[in-house]
Amino acid sequence: MTNTADNGENKNMSNINNVKDISKIKEQIQDSLKEDINTIYYFSGTGNSYYVARELAKRLENTENTENKGNEDNEDNEDNKTKEIVYNKLDISNLKNTRIISIANELKNRNIINNSDKIIFIYPVYGFGIPEIVERFINRINIKNPQVNVYSIATCGKMPGGVHYHINKLLNKKGIELKAGYTLKMPNNYILAFNPPSAQDVNHMLDNTDVDILKLSVLIRNNRENTAKDSLFGKLSSDVLYPFWKKGLYKFDEKFKISKDCNLCGICEKICPVNNIEIIDNENLEYNDRIIFKHKCQECLSCIQTCPVRAISYGNSNKKRRYFNPRVKINELIEANTKTKNN
Ligand SMILES: Cc1cc2nc3c(=O)[nH]c(=O)nc-3n(C[C@H](O)[C@H](O)[C@H](O)COP(=O)(O)O)c2cc1C
Ligand code: SF4
Ligand code: SF4
Repeated sequence: MTNTADNGENKNMSNINNVKDISKIKEQIQDSLKEDINTIYYFSGTGNSYYVARELAKRLENTENTENKGNEDNEDNEDNKTKEIVYNKLDISNLKNTRIISIANELKNRNIINNSDKIIFIYPVYGFGIPEIVERFINRINIKNPQVNVYSIATCGKMPGGVHYHINKLLNKKGIELKAGYTLKMPNNYILAFNPPSAQDVNHMLDNTDVDILKLSVLIRNNRENTAKDSLFGKLSSDVLYPFWKKGLYKFDEKFKISKDCNLCGICEKICPVNNIEIIDNENLEYNDRIIFKHKCQECLSCIQTCPVRAISYGNSNKKRRYFNPRVKINELIEANTKTKNN
């Protein structure tokens, strides 16, 4: 009896083991075939960071089912040039692997939950740090996947300061370590201090950005780590300079001035990523009172840069050239900033 019972039990066990083994193998095969689901969260005032988000999303897409299989380790070969053409034609509203989400828009949701395999934050450098809205967003997001790989991509004029250190510090509070941080030098939009580069230089810089994005996509696909988060200067600028910069942030818009050239076209109201601008259509009001700034400004400068008649100035300075990424249409950024996840 005992033996029979034992035999029967063992037989059953071995059946169960087989089933378990097979389903485990199936799981492993499925895992190896599984394509990573990526979420790109971006914040962008004048289009640089949005441009990187848009182009990176295309290059993270799996195009293996197309006939163009380039060698990703060498971005110069002919195969990859063909592959680039395929990427450029991809419709970003219809990508399988990657969602692009506006941080400003997502913050309107009560719960911000993410289950992706990879999360990529893309944003401009402000005052050697990250935009305040990005800090607030990372504090709010609920990251569900314990195996997630998180990346930080900053676009800047020249000096990124401590952005990756800062993002890692925020992630650490959630028990997550930043996988890698990358910084892309792009046309500087800080027109309160500098003139942006000439149109020709901008074009040249953006061609270089394209090469950087392709390289980045390979590094991210291959889950490469780096130590950008460990910079000592990063620690100094994030812990000392950044709080100082943040203190004056919400008062920044008190110095905006509107000139009599304003024709109430509404572009500034629409482009403002944080709905900080409201237009009062009342001709009896003074020019300055027709446009209201609501003191939740992020200093992105996109209202100044996109006003078609240069009617917005900051303080007394209105002399610098304007900048908006020429490879992004103003309406495209407005739409992307207000798009919800399901449309
Ligand atoms: C308020 C403000 C502060 C900035 N601070 C820095 C900085 O500290 N270091 C830097 O290299 N660039 C700085 N920049 C330049 C932007 O980071 C850079 O042009 C960025 O690519 C703009 O991205 P966007 O077009 O997505 O808004 C600053 C720009 C603004 C508007
Ligand atoms: S974009 Fe310029 S012209 Fe248009 S409403 Fe704003 S300030 Fe006025
Ligand atoms: S008010 Fe102007 S500078 Fe401030 S967040 Fe809006 S668009 Fe950017």
